Amino acid sequence: MKQNYLFIALIFSLVSCKKDQKTEPSITVGSSAYEEGEEFSAGIRTVNDQSSLAFSYQLSGLNAQEKLDFFVGNSFFNQNWVEAPSSTTARDGLGPMFNARSCASCHFRDGRGEPFANKGLLFRLSVPGIGLNGEPLADINYGGQLSDNSIQGVASEGVFNIFYNEQNYQFPDGENYSLRTPVYTFTGLNYGAMNSSIMFSPRIGQQMIGLGLIEALNDADVLSKVDEMDANADGISGKANYVYDAISKSQRLGKFGWKANVANLYHQTAGAFLGDLGITTWLFKNENCTSIQNDCQTAINGGAPEIDSTNLNLTVLYARSLGVPIRRNYKDADVLLGKMIFTNLGCANCHTPKYTTGNNSPIAALNTIEIRPYSDFLLHDMGNDLADNRPDYLANGNEWRTQPLWGLGLIQTVNGHSFLLHDGRARTILEAIMWHGGEANNSKQKFSILKKTERDAVIAFLKSL
Ligand code: HEC
Ligand code: HEC
Repeated sequence: MKQNYLFIALIFSLVSCKKDQKTEPSITVGSSAYEEGEEFSAGIRTVNDQSSLAFSYQLSGLNAQEKLDFFVGNSFFNQNWVEAPSSTTARDGLGPMFNARSCASCHFRDGRGEPFANKGLLFRLSVPGIGLNGEPLADINYGGQLSDNSIQGVASEGVFNIFYNEQNYQFPDGENYSLRTPVYTFTGLNYGAMNSSIMFSPRIGQQMIGLGLIEALNDADVLSKVDEMDANADGISGKANYVYDAISKSQRLGKFGWKANVANLYHQTAGAFLGDLGITTWLFKNENCTSIQNDCQTAINGGAPEIDSTNLNLTVLYARSLGVPIRRNYKDADVLLGKMIFTNLGCANCHTPKYTTGNNSPIAALNTIEIRPYSDFLLHDMGNDLADNRPDYLANGNEWRTQPLWGLGLIQTVNGHSFLLHDGRARTILEAIMWHGGEANNSKQKFSILKKTERDAVIAFLKSL
């Protein structure tokens, strides 16, 4: 029965026009035809630039005030914060504990971080159990994030070291590749030995593009892809994360972070100011010190709060309104072939190509835009090899949020590196694919038995995004 149904559906979607494919969610048949407008990843808001600054433009259509605010927000994102007291009071208050001096040091050119301290890699920490709002339970001594930097007179928490174990593999057709597994150690720990039950999650800063459009998606559209019990039996069960939003003081659908562990950009931005830079806001008023960190607690601060709500709002507006660059080579034969294979391998079952944003955004230009983020923004079990074994709200230690693939092909141009995945372990797109496991294992296996030219076509397609 099922076979027949599949067969009929296959014929149906092959002969029908592409619009109708949506009505058959479990049957994915890719097309190698160019789809009108597919190069505009953010629809009519797409940025027409492919240079090393491609991630740094505002999306088109902002009103005059928003355009001005974007530039001021940009300066708060890029400038280094300094220790208090300082004559530049609007920019002091760094630390006492911090990871980096500016947002841009981890999101360099609004792009992707690298797996090095102060360049984008940080460690979330927790101990078993959950906090008052369902959040991971912070460690008594080291808190919820390792602070590998601190101001003068205050000892940092310690530093991390990365060692990679590299292993060689071969595709059935003989092509070689290798994967490196990171092994982390923490040294120079200044607040006692780490509790042996501490769980840690290494994470890299993502590119900042199109985040306002993601925020503007209707929850219902994201939730429509949830399939926790895998009712359609495609081996893929998208799961929603619900996380504490400090602004509405309620649990909301998580959309941001590698585990969909943050609900909106306001919370994410204020959280980054405190957790990554040590800058307090009206939302997170207390410095990031644990109860045993006395020097941290008594250090001079840069005002209460250290960034006022006006400037925080401008930084949030900036994070909301970075555009998404136009695709490249989208009509090349290999790219179009790769697009079809991508769908046929089942990649698009998680990396959902297309959505239309809702109409509730505070920025009018973000409303009802057709976007192509290539993500369902849901959690998936990606297998033991990628697991951090640290729960984050409803996400378990194996689950990660599907990373949007828009902009993927420009990370090299913007950031001069090609480190991918949540911890930057993959050195190439090919390696990132070969790390897929769990619910994505099937797709990965199908990818690995392709002919080399076909694998190359998939990669050419991904590079065109
Ligand atoms: C020490 C490095 C570091 C600094 C500094 C930093 N970030 Fe991040 N950023 C990250 C990491 C790592 C993540 C992923 C976090 C996660 O998965 O929980 C992230 C995620 C984000 C996201 C969500 C992106 C997405 O695709 O979901 C936003 C928005 C963001 N950061 C904004 C900021 C802002 C604004 C600042 C400055 C106030 C800042 N960041 C400073 C490392 C950093
Ligand atoms: C079951 C859902 C699922 C399927 C199927 C899937 N992916 Fe992914 N993909 C993810 C998740 C989740 C991540 C983030 C994993 C991480 O960072 O640890 C990811 C990450 C990636 C990345 C790295 C993105 C970045 O910016 O770091 C690439 C490239 C990618 N996927 C391509 C593919 C391709 C190609 C296929 C098909 C062969 C595929 N994916 C199938 C869920 C999926």
